[in-house]
Amino acid sequence: MQLEFRTLMFGIVTVLVIFLIIADIAEVEEEIANIGGSRKLYMHSLIPKPNRNVAVKANPKPLVSEGEDKSPASPSYSNNTTKLSSDNWTFNRSLSNLIRKNILRFFDPERDISILKGTLKPGDVIHYIFDRQSTTNISENLYRLLPTVSPMKNQHHRHCAIVGNSGILLNSSCGPEIDSYDFVIRCNLAPVEEYAGDVGRRTNLVTMNPSVVQRAFQDLASEEWRERFLQRLRGLSGSVLWIPAFMAKGGEERVEWAIRLILLHTVDVHTAFPSLRLLHAVRGYWLTNNVQIKRPTTGLLMYTMATRFCEEIHLYGFWPFPQDSQGKPVKYHYYDTLTYTYTSHASPHTMPLEFRTLSSLHRQGALRLHTGSCDAGT
Ligand SMILES: *[C@@H]1O[C@H](CO)[C@@H](O)[C@H](O)[C@H]1NC(C)=O
Ligand SMILES: *[C@@H]1O[C@H](CO)[C@@H](O)[C@H](O)[C@H]1NC(C)=O
Ligand SMILES: *[C@@H]1O[C@H](CO)[C@@H](O)[C@H](O)[C@H]1NC(C)=O
Ligand SMILES: *[C@@H]1O[C@H](CO)[C@@H](O)[C@H](O)[C@H]1NC(C)=O
Ligand SMILES: *[C@@H]1O[C@H](CO)[C@@H](O)[C@H](O)[C@H]1NC(C)=O
Ligand SMILES: *[C@@H]1O[C@H](CO)[C@@H](O)[C@H](O)[C@H]1NC(C)=O
Repeated sequence: MQLEFRTLMFGIVTVLVIFLIIADIAEVEEEIANIGGSRKLYMHSLIPKPNRNVAVKANPKPLVSEGEDKSPASPSYSNNTTKLSSDNWTFNRSLSNLIRKNILRFFDPERDISILKGTLKPGDVIHYIFDRQSTTNISENLYRLLPTVSPMKNQHHRHCAIVGNSGILLNSSCGPEIDSYDFVIRCNLAPVEEYAGDVGRRTNLVTMNPSVVQRAFQDLASEEWRERFLQRLRGLSGSVLWIPAFMAKGGEERVEWAIRLILLHTVDVHTAFPSLRLLHAVRGYWLTNNVQIKRPTTGLLMYTMATRFCEEIHLYGFWPFPQDSQGKPVKYHYYDTLTYTYTSHASPHTMPLEFRTLSSLHRQGALRLHTGSCDAGT
């Protein structure tokens, strides 16, 4: 009798758990469907208690054991736009460690930085993260470029720089300073040679959205553009090339062309393709900390991941405003003429909010934002 009762209870609990998991998935999917709109569905359920089941949502196996403190102190992500002071910035190691630990509750950047070879095979069908109804197949070529171990395995660096692409870098003379870091992360294959004095050359990891192939390399349509693309990749010699191939539909062919060139010319880069859960895990972390971003920018993604590999993180080229602090115009990208409405509701990103968040972390000493020029030798 007792055994039957226990079996029954076990059955009920199992059904309940499955129901909760399904409800959770439905919630996430609906959330995706609403990304891009200005409505903030479901966010309320993510905010109040830091350790609600968001960690479960992002990761079935919490990386920090359940027995640990349920609500660790968090940095305060306040909403404050006061001017950044740089003269007396000091690194707060314990805060930085705390942030790393909290992020690890949501995902492990070392693992989620790339899908690994063992986990997929050619022909496997993948649903795009932001376009769940659209699928793509893992091509033979893409499969060949999947790493067998994480390209960031066991990597730990003292001082890292993450270089955003804002025009605020122009005339900054920050190049030598940026090149002096142990590890330099760049975004979207931004050009460096022509701007080296302001942005530096050193690159240890660079991201490449599929759209870059079109926007910056004319879809590799001619020999000349293919050569330029190869030239840029050869300049990376040995760095990680991080390709978010499965975020949004439409980039499939571009990724394939790029990959084919890399294979054909045996370009010396370590390709990485972010895991399918990365985006939601990163977003979950920030939402839980009451930072209501829509889709994280590449810059914020890189910061969130870098906390795993880097002690002190310095950010350059992050400036989501059309003017600098003196009111002079600032280009969206330092290297092209693209314009951008930072506050547009149609944008999938919430850059000014991200920036306020990073500013707050700067003030608390968790990271350092460099928004001025570097010629003072600092
Ligand atoms: C945060 O800043 C935004 C934009 O400046 C503003 O609309 C919002 O009311 C602020 N929220 C708080 C809690 O101060
Ligand atoms: C923003 O920070 C400044 C200086 O730290 C402080 O005086 C001000 O009260 C803060 N504002 C808000 C809304 O937190
Ligand atoms: C840093 O300087 C600013 C103004 O220059 C001041 O408000 C702030 O209290 C200083 N912070 C520390 C930690 O000394
Ligand atoms: C560093 O951060 C920790 C955790 O937020 C805080 O308790 C400590 O006071 C900070 N230390 C300094 C020197 O600001
Ligand atoms: C993708 O895979 C599916 C199932 O294996 C197959 O039916 C389809 O033809 C493939 N599509 C492409 C473009 O290879
Ligand atoms: C950079 O400096 C040059 C030379 O002084 C000037 O012509 C140019 O307008 C400056 N660019 C920016 C974005 O400030």
